[in-house]
Amino acid sequence: MKRVLFVILSALLTALFFLALGQDMTREWTGYQSKFFRTLSQAERQGISGGIKQIIVSDLNRIDRCTTCHLAIDKPQMALAEEPFTAHPGKYLAWHPVEQFGCTVCHGGQGLATEVKAAHGDVPHWEQPLLRGPLVQASCRQCHGNLNELSGYAPLLVKGRQLFAAKGCYGCHAIKDVGQSVSVDLAEVGSKSHQLIEADFENMPPPHHRIHWILTKLDNPRVLNPGVPQDQLPPGEEEVFPTAMPHFGLTPDERQALTVYLLSLTDANPPVSYTIPPEPQVVTTYDNDIDRGRAVFERLGCTGCHGPQGVGGRRNWNGGLGEEVPSLIYVKAYYGENVEALKEVIRTGRQPVPRADAARPQPGLYMPAWKDRMTDSDLTALVAYLYSLSELLPAEASTAAPAGDQATTVTN
Ligand code: HEC
Ligand code: HEC
Ligand code: HEC
Ligand code: HEC
Ligand code: HEC
Repeated sequence: MKRVLFVILSALLTALFFLALGQDMTREWTGYQSKFFRTLSQAERQGISGGIKQIIVSDLNRIDRCTTCHLAIDKPQMALAEEPFTAHPGKYLAWHPVEQFGCTVCHGGQGLATEVKAAHGDVPHWEQPLLRGPLVQASCRQCHGNLNELSGYAPLLVKGRQLFAAKGCYGCHAIKDVGQSVSVDLAEVGSKSHQLIEADFENMPPPHHRIHWILTKLDNPRVLNPGVPQDQLPPGEEEVFPTAMPHFGLTPDERQALTVYLLSLTDANPPVSYTIPPEPQVVTTYDNDIDRGRAVFERLGCTGCHGPQGVGGRRNWNGGLGEEVPSLIYVKAYYGENVEALKEVIRTGRQPVPRADAARPQPGLYMPAWKDRMTDSDLTALVAYLYSLSELLPAEASTAAPAGDQATTVTN
C-alpha cells in the first residue's frame, strides 16, 4: 500500500515539475529575452546572461525587475530599437546610476512584477500606474527641491507649479503651510489612495486611476461632483450643490502641466543623501504699491475666487449677487475714504456668506480671513491695487461681467 502511494506521489511530482518548467518557458519575459538574444550576434551575446534581472535599492526600499525585459536600457547603440529593447533616452541613467536609483522611483509601475501589464501597474488595486512620456516629470520633485534647475528637463513640472499660483488655486487649497484652508490640503494628492477616490470613479469613464482622475477634475470639476437637485431627492432632504471648485476653462496644455505638478505632490520621503535643497527665496522689490499689491493678490490666490484682476464671475451657489463671488472692481466706489472698513473685511473675512434663499443650503464659498497671512504693509499695498481696479470699470464692467459657464474671460 505504502509503495503504491509512493509511486503515485512520485509520478505527480514529476508531472508538476514538467508543468512548472513548461509554464516558465512560456512566461512573457522569457519570450522577450529569447527575442532579444536572437537580435544579437554570437560575439554580442558574450557575457550577457538570461534570467530574471533585479535591481535592489535598499535606500529607496525598492526591488525593480524592469530590466528583465528592458534589456538594452543602458546600451546607447540600441537607441533605435523597438520597445522594450530601446536604450534609455537622454543622460538620465548617467545622472542617476541604475544600481543607485532603479526605475520605479521615477517611472512608477510595479518593480517586482515580470509581466507587462502588472509591471506597468496596469492592474486593479495597484496604486502606481506607469508614468509614461512627459508624465514622468512628476517624479523629479521628490528629490529635486530646486525646480528652477530642472526647467530644461522637466518643463511641465515647472509650468504646472507656476500655473497653480497664477490660477489662484492657493485661494482655496493649501500645500502644507502655504495657501488657504477653504478646501482640502493638496500636499499629498499625488499619492491619494484609489480607495478614497473610488466614489468619483463612478462619474468618469475608465481608466480608473489617479492620473485620469486629476485630468478629469481639472477639465471640469462638476463632472465628478455634479450635485443633486432638490427635485431628485426625497422630500425634506437638503439639495446638494455641485462642487464649489470653479471651472477654470484650462487649455489641454495647462491641464497636462497642472496634472504633472499635482502628481508630484506625494508622501514620498527619500533619504537626504538623494535630495537637492530648494532654490533660495527671491525677494522681489516693487517700484510702487499697486505693483506690490498685485503680487500679493496673485500670491495669496484671491484670483481663485474673485477672478483675474478681481473681475468676479466665479459661481457661488446660493451666494447672492447672481450666485457669484463679487467682483472687486467696484471696491473703490463702495468703500471710498473708508479704507479701514475695507482692510477689516480683508483681515477678518466674512463667514458665513449670507444665503440668497433661506430655504436652500449654505453657499460653498465664503471670504476667508487673511490677517495671519499678510503684513500691514502688504495690506496697504493690496488696497492700493484694489482701488486701481476701478480704472477697469467703464470698459470691463460691460464686457467682462460674468455670463456663467459661457464667459470667456473667466469661465467661473
Ligand atoms: C515583461 C516585460 C516587461 C517588464 C517586466 C517591464 N516592461 Fe516596460 N515595456 C515592455 C514592453 C513590451 C513595452 C512596449 C509596449 C508598451 O508600451 O506596453 C514597454 C514599454 C515601456 C515604457 C514606454 C511606454 C510608452 O508608452 O512609451 C516604459 C516607460 C516602461 N516600459 C517602463 C517599465 C518599467 C519602469 C518597468 C518596471 C517596473 C517595466 N517597464 C517592466 C515590457 C516590459
Ligand atoms: C531619474 C529618473 C529616471 C530613472 C531612474 C529612469 N528613467 Fe526612464 N525616463 C526618464 C525620463 C525623464 C524619460 C523621458 C525622457 C525624454 O523624453 O527625453 C524616460 C524615458 C524612458 C523610456 C522611453 C519611453 C518614455 O516613456 O518616454 C523608457 C522605456 C524608460 N524611460 C525606461 C526606464 C527603465 C527601464 C529604467 C530603469 C532601468 C528607467 N527608465 C529609469 C526618467 C528616468
Ligand atoms: C530619488 C531621487 C531623484 C529623483 C526621483 C530624480 N533625481 Fe535627478 N538627481 C538626483 C541626485 C541625487 C542627483 C545628483 C546631484 C548632484 O550630483 O549634485 C541628480 C542629478 C540630476 C541631474 C544632473 C544635474 C547636474 O547638474 O549634474 C539632472 C538634470 C536631473 N537629476 C534631472 C532629473 C529629472 C528630470 C528627474 C525626474 C524625471 C529626476 N532628476 C529625478 C536625485 C533624483
Ligand atoms: C474657489 C475654491 C477653489 C479653487 C480656487 C480651487 N479649488 Fe480645487 N477644490 C475645491 C473644493 C471645494 C474641492 C472639494 C470638492 C471637490 O472635490 O470637488 C476641491 C478639490 C480639488 C481636488 C481634489 C482633491 C481631493 O483630495 O479630493 C483637486 C486635485 C483640486 N481641487 C485641484 C485644484 C487646482 C489645481 C486648482 C487651481 C487650478 C484648484 N483646485 C482651485 C475648491 C477650489
Ligand atoms: C474662497 C473664496 C475667496 C477667496 C480666496 C477670496 N475671497 Fe474675497 N470674497 C469671497 C466672497 C464669497 C465674498 C462675498 C462675501 C459677502 O459679501 O458676504 C468676498 C468678499 C470680498 C470683499 C468685499 C467685497 C464687497 O463688496 O464688500 C473683498 C474686498 C474681498 N473679498 C477681497 C479679497 C482679497 C483681497 C482676497 C485675497 C487676499 C480674497 N478676497 C480672497 C470669497 C473669496
